[in-house]
Amino acid sequence: MSIIKVSNLHKRFDKAHVLKGLNFELNKGRWLSIVGKSGSGKTTLLNILSLLDNASEGEYFLDGINVTHLSEADKQRIRREKIGLIFQQFHLIPYLSVLENVMLAQYYHSSIEENDAKKILDKVGLLDRLEHLPSELSGGQQQRLCIARSLINNPNILLADEPTGNLDEENGEIVLDIFKKLRSEGKTIILITHNPDLAKNGDEIITIKDGLIVNE
Ligand SMILES: Nc1ncnc2c1ncn2[C@@H]1O[C@H](COP(=O)(O)OP(=O)(O)O)[C@@H](O)[C@H]1O
Ligand SMILES: [Mg+2]
Repeated sequence: MSIIKVSNLHKRFDKAHVLKGLNFELNKGRWLSIVGKSGSGKTTLLNILSLLDNASEGEYFLDGINVTHLSEADKQRIRREKIGLIFQQFHLIPYLSVLENVMLAQYYHSSIEENDAKKILDKVGLLDRLEHLPSELSGGQQQRLCIARSLINNPNILLADEPTGNLDEENGEIVLDIFKKLRSEGKTIILITHNPDLAKNGDEIITIKDGLIVNE
């Protein structure tokens, strides 16, 4: 059964009709890569998929639930339960250590377990950086910290917006390996990227152009 399904999804802003009727579905445990030029609407789509924004028209089913018309409170609850979000900009708290950044995220999910935080940081190879500040980490390490943070609620679905966009090739490879490992653990992944080499790791790839999905 599909864990994510959108039908006839549109997004209009005041001056722009950005998404013009998208249709796709994704089965559980699959990795979908979304590519498209800058300004094509990828982040707009991810914001809708992560329930941070609403579509202007169309339907969105998440894990079998039609979330299109739910209240903000319900959407927030579903997001917290099911979704891990990874951004290109890291949005780390600069005066908190690596461990504290993860524990603050735990706090939002109402469970503060230092050992769980450490386990997740181990998973992304940051166990030897627990006391460092974000500014004392490389770009690749900061992105791994963001991935760790997105995993604390054990989400089934990971949504990532250009997670390697700010990284050099070597760090991009490390992050790629983490995503591959997460897929092997059964996570469903939607990954937006400019990078065709990264995109081709997906089980499926869609390209957005002029507000529509095109086959390339
Ligand atoms: N909040 C907003 N208000 C108005 N226009 C927006 C807003 N967010 C995005 N857009 C417009 O939507 C288009 C797609 O943007 P975006 O989804 O960020 O593209 P991408 O992530 O593919 O680079 C752009 O033309 C952008 O200016
Ligand atoms: Mg974008």
